[in-house]
Amino acid sequence: MIKKEIIDQIREQTDIVQIIGEYLPLKKSGKHFRTLCPFHTEKSPSFYVNQERQIYHCFGCGAGGSVITFLMQYEKLPFPDAIKKLAGKLGIIIETEATSYKYQALYDANEFAADFYTRNLEKSKAASAYLTHRKISIETIKRFRIGYATGGNLLLQNAKKQGLTEEVLIKAGLAVKKDDGYHDWFYNRITFPVFSISGKVIGFNARGLDENSQPKYINTLETPVFKKGENLFGLFQAKNYLYSKTPILVEGNFDLLSLVENGINNVIAPLGTALTPHQAQLIRRYANQLIIAFDGDSAGEAATLRTIETLLKTGIDPHIALLPTSFDPDKYIKTFGKDKFDLLINNNLDFVDFILKISNTQTVTEKKLCLKQIINLVSLIEEKIGQELYINKISNIFHIAKENLLNQIQKTSTTSAKINQKADQIRTMPLSLLEEQVLSLIISNANYASIAQKDLPIKYFNANVHAVVQTAYDICNTENFTSAKLIDSLEQSELKKLVADLSFHLKIVPKENEFLRKLNEFKAAWLYQSMKAAQEKGANQLLRELTIEHYNIKKKLNQMRSKK
Ligand code: UTP
Ligand code: MN
Repeated sequence: MIKKEIIDQIREQTDIVQIIGEYLPLKKSGKHFRTLCPFHTEKSPSFYVNQERQIYHCFGCGAGGSVITFLMQYEKLPFPDAIKKLAGKLGIIIETEATSYKYQALYDANEFAADFYTRNLEKSKAASAYLTHRKISIETIKRFRIGYATGGNLLLQNAKKQGLTEEVLIKAGLAVKKDDGYHDWFYNRITFPVFSISGKVIGFNARGLDENSQPKYINTLETPVFKKGENLFGLFQAKNYLYSKTPILVEGNFDLLSLVENGINNVIAPLGTALTPHQAQLIRRYANQLIIAFDGDSAGEAATLRTIETLLKTGIDPHIALLPTSFDPDKYIKTFGKDKFDLLINNNLDFVDFILKISNTQTVTEKKLCLKQIINLVSLIEEKIGQELYINKISNIFHIAKENLLNQIQKTSTTSAKINQKADQIRTMPLSLLEEQVLSLIISNANYASIAQKDLPIKYFNANVHAVVQTAYDICNTENFTSAKLIDSLEQSELKKLVADLSFHLKIVPKENEFLRKLNEFKAAWLYQSMKAAQEKGANQLLRELTIEHYNIKKKLNQMRSKK
């Protein structure tokens, strides 16, 4: 880990125009610099660099970020390497804070366990035989660091010799305390380490060696570094393949490994959960399309439907490879071979064709039901062009006018938004203009961010931008808060782009009283929306509370106006 102060120092001492200018011919254009965008093909330049705010933004493809993001994107460097490169240019010596790193002990414990389990596997005939029986090669075992957890609390005993305490092992989810003392969490199981994106072992998923062990798989329970719904099995090994190949999502670990054995590396698996929004976000960093290849049974079909929904909400276009009944990808590729499996993947259906395929559409009633299901899904698509393409498709299939479909989709979007509304977190709509204005000011101005931090809880914002607001609130009181610094503190590239975009479009930073007025108008609008929702749901107590709050804000706003 590179120290935060160093990163700040680097950002402050570099000039984005100079750095990008070393790679691209920048031309002054009004207040900004511009050139042809290196991240998409274009004839006239829409890539702009804003020197004052130290950010770039492409009006064509939406690429954007800080000088650090630029190096990462342009030179395909991971974050630390981009920092090192800039530091080199500035002659700054980089200190790391690896030892003081908060969760280092947990990473160490997991690393020790992964190593220990792999050594156990080599010693266990039964476990090795099991993997051979399932046609997993030594090469794959090594690459995925597959291991074996024996019984007899061997991990505990050996870890202690290495100076790892019981406390740390428990915190890392590798041991548990029972009435009669400490025990290994995993025993008599094949262990599959789960890796972070950067390749650190953060937890395990483990299959019982006995066919009748219950449950068949267990995983590390939640720890500070491992949450099963936030990680994907195989993503670390797959990630470099995902830029050129559409990811394939399978249900089981062995499905994944079987495909890998056949040279199919663009596979990921969700660790036994239904794909969570968090996991979908992770995938979205690498791809905007995905092929679901779940088990060909009714459970697989139900899981596919849920996954389609989650993917659409995340902006990933779901496609589906249909497996025959009672086949999973593991069994399919073993039975029919790689070529047949490739064919199955190539014959994938988009989600509309998938729904049509699994639905009855003989009678008018059945058709209506099926169409309704499809419309519900299409209304989840935020990107307008993608949505329109599907609308055109349905319009052709069902012979229904586009306008009628659009109408229905708008209705569905509002009702489904209403259904999702919880009492305290009512909105799932795209950013309103007011929200956008307030957010733009918060991300570009330390003073306004710290005012909002005290006075504008993140619940007022669209869930999509919570991470942005939260991060801005977290760091706005540190020295030299700027939108560029915020960009570098965010994890998701989509959010980095959003901040660059908003900051770029912010023309005038208004005076403080004007900002306060906007902030309160935004609050009032949100409260009013919430009041309507509460009323519709008959949530009377909530409605009363909201009404009072709304009244107070309105009063405040009137006072502000009369002072002017
Ligand atoms: P499956 O039962 O389909 O697993 O569950 P599989 O990989 O096909 O199993 P075998 O080994 O070939 O018989 C799919 C995934 O769900 C998770 C595991 O990650 C598994 O790979 N799972 C399954 C659990 O977390 N707990 C369970 O009890 C079962
Ligand atoms: Mn399976």
